[in-house]
Amino acid sequence: MATWRLSSVPGLAFAAALCVWAPATPAAAQPAQASGCETCHRAQAQPALAAPARDFGATDVHRDRGFTCVDCHGGNPSETDKTRAKAPATGFKGKPAGQMVIAVCARCHSDAALMRKYAPKQRVDQAVEYATSVHGQQLAKGDTKVATCVSCHGAHGVRLVSDAQSPVYVTNVAATCTTCHADAERMKGYHLPDGSPLPTDQRTKYEKSVHHAAMVQGNDLSAPTCNDCHGNHGAAPPGVGAIANVCGTCHTVFATKFALSTHSQIFDRSCVECHSNHEIAKPTDAMLGTDKAALCADCHSEGDNGHKAATAMRSSIEKLKDAIARSAALVAEAENAGMEMGGQQLALREAGNQLTLARTEMHAFDPKPVEDVLQAGLGITAKVDAEGQAALAEVSYRRTGLAISLGAILLVVVALSLKIRSLK
Ligand code: HEC
Ligand code: HEC
Ligand code: HEC
Ligand code: HEC
Ligand code: HEC
Ligand code: HEC
Ligand code: HEC
Ligand code: HEC
Ligand code: HEC
Repeated sequence: MATWRLSSVPGLAFAAALCVWAPATPAAAQPAQASGCETCHRAQAQPALAAPARDFGATDVHRDRGFTCVDCHGGNPSETDKTRAKAPATGFKGKPAGQMVIAVCARCHSDAALMRKYAPKQRVDQAVEYATSVHGQQLAKGDTKVATCVSCHGAHGVRLVSDAQSPVYVTNVAATCTTCHADAERMKGYHLPDGSPLPTDQRTKYEKSVHHAAMVQGNDLSAPTCNDCHGNHGAAPPGVGAIANVCGTCHTVFATKFALSTHSQIFDRSCVECHSNHEIAKPTDAMLGTDKAALCADCHSEGDNGHKAATAMRSSIEKLKDAIARSAALVAEAENAGMEMGGQQLALREAGNQLTLARTEMHAFDPKPVEDVLQAGLGITAKVDAEGQAALAEVSYRRTGLAISLGAILLVVVALSLKIRSLK
């Protein structure tokens, strides 16, 4: 396997290579022996020349699958002489740059037949997707400041994406993207469609978001990072109308409710219009309504239907919150008096779920469904209240009973002691 050279006669060598690969169990492929390239490069003093060999030798998914330097660079790996190793006849390509990088990686990663032998379920559309991204489109225009395959994966020491040390492992993605996107110097000269400079604050903002908190503090790896909203390879700002779909991949019910609303017809940036994209804060009830702190007041004013809806929905939510708080106080009082209130605690939790549901239903921006949820919630709290009152009545009934029987016992004791004294 060490002697075939993919790059010397591309078509022929490729076919030959496929023949070599076909019968073997790819997973069992042995890591390749150090080649002439690797040996000489390891010994180089210049870090740029030595690091590729060192990194490739230490850990690399390609090395683990039996590939060597020449699979990407061409050249003759069995030569120890530099000039002969890189003679023109060996197809040596040197250091790939720009579109060449894409071509080098895509030669295998876009080849479904080849990839199937190693990772049958793996996608083979990275280069196609990449070409549709802002990165790919800019690169095609000759802009070399954009990301290529190696900006996100590296060229040597490439790891499986599921490896926690991979630069694209879920918790490392934000840092990888923002080596460029937080570098104001590198990003100078790019603009948003409205002509303002392309922001470089995505990471700072993202790190303040509920999503980052869920991932980092909550250890919830299903919370989104950059590539969940922008795609792994098709990185672009989600287009007009597509944002609700992006958020909706995870917040399905919210997106469904939102689709029913007038807002969905008129907002260019859907969810982002109210929640922002990178710095999504924990929503509060104060965002809903018509006072200064509320979002709705930014666009709606006294008398219009939005204003009325905001007032009605906020008041529904506040009513339910108040009712739950009152019932909870009542249940606590009964528990302190020694009554068993487990069932009522459970019912109150269900009322709390109705409150959450109301905040979801609110996304149709129609007061009616929110009012329905409110009524369901109020039904629960009314029942809990009745049971709480009954429990407290029971407590006072028992207390009165106890007082009466204590009184009776006291009378008997007094009568008895009088009797004893009279007998003496
Ligand atoms: C005997 C030592 C030696 C061998 C063998 C050798 N190289 Fe090099 N390589 C170098 C040196 C030194 C340089 C720096 C440029 C120069 O002096 O030509 C270099 C440069 C490179 C570069 C960067 C070229 C550029 O355009 O910047 C690549 C890529 C490379 N070698 C890959 C390989 C591959 C692949 C092989 C095996 C087929 C190989 N080398 C074999 C010593 C070697
Ligand atoms: C999976 C493909 C792949 C393999 C395998 C590979 N390289 Fe590279 N190599 C690249 C690419 C792509 C670049 C350009 C990287 C960049 O622009 O950052 C590169 C760059 C280099 C450079 C130039 C580094 C610099 O900063 O100027 C050297 C030298 C090099 N490789 C040597 C090697 C040697 C030696 C091996 C084997 C031990 C090897 N490469 C294996 C893809 C590969
Ligand atoms: C802007 C950064 C970026 C660029 C550019 C990029 N990738 Fe990726 N790549 C990722 C991320 C992020 C993942 C997904 C990690 C995950 O699934 O958690 C990924 C996943 C992969 C995978 C695993 C299979 C898959 O599709 O999920 C392969 C293979 C891959 N990339 C190859 C490439 C190739 C080849 C190129 C160049 C055409 C490229 N990548 C360009 C970021 C990038
Ligand atoms: C000679 C063929 C070949 C070339 C060239 C090649 N790859 Fe690969 N690559 C593979 C194979 C085969 C795998 C193993 C897939 C597996 O087993 O999961 C792989 C795996 C990967 C993975 C890990 C995917 C995963 O499952 O997590 C990444 C990332 C990757 N390659 C990126 C690159 C990049 C970036 C380049 C270009 C610098 C490149 N590859 C060039 C064949 C190649
Ligand atoms: C090597 C540097 C580099 C890396 C790494 C990088 N980008 Fe980029 N990105 C750029 C440059 C440069 C542009 C071009 C800006 C333009 O044309 O608007 C760009 C453009 C974009 C755009 C389009 C912006 C717009 O509205 O025009 C998005 C979205 C994007 N990148 C997301 C990402 C994501 C997500 C990652 C990580 C998975 C990432 N980038 C990694 C350099 C990089
Ligand atoms: C929860 C989804 C989400 C996450 C996570 C996310 N983005 Fe975005 N990003 C968006 C949306 C939506 C837009 C478009 C907003 C618009 O059109 O106003 C956007 C816009 C951008 C843009 C265009 C310029 C700008 O700031 O508006 C860049 C560049 C970008 N994001 C990069 C990143 C990077 C880098 C990360 C990770 C640190 C990231 N994004 C994380 C959803 C997300
Ligand atoms: C990859 C899945 C995913 C994507 C995409 C996503 N989110 Fe999230 N979101 C989560 C997770 C997980 C949480 C934290 C758990 C929770 O509170 O629901 C969360 C939390 C939230 C919260 C706080 C909820 C709360 O009760 O505190 C808001 C608001 C939010 N996301 C809005 C958005 C918006 C707007 C978008 C699109 C720009 C978006 N999300 C994209 C998964 C996602
Ligand atoms: C017109 C403004 C607006 C739009 C558009 C909007 N939301 Fe909201 N969202 C709110 C308000 C206000 C709240 C807080 C409700 C409350 O707590 O009473 C909220 C709360 C949330 C919550 C937290 C609910 C909870 O249980 O606390 C999530 C998650 C959420 N929104 C996701 C989305 C998603 C996804 C979209 C797009 C499909 C979206 N929102 C569109 C205004 C909006
Ligand atoms: C970014 C501006 C903006 C924000 C913020 C906003 N709206 Fe709207 N809303 C509009 C526009 C524009 C319309 C369509 C014109 C109209 O009917 O007023 C609309 C329409 C509506 C309608 C339908 C009115 C009808 O006549 O059918 C309701 C209900 C509504 N909004 C409620 C809300 C609520 C509740 C909030 C706060 C959670 C809110 N809006 C936040 C801009 C906004």
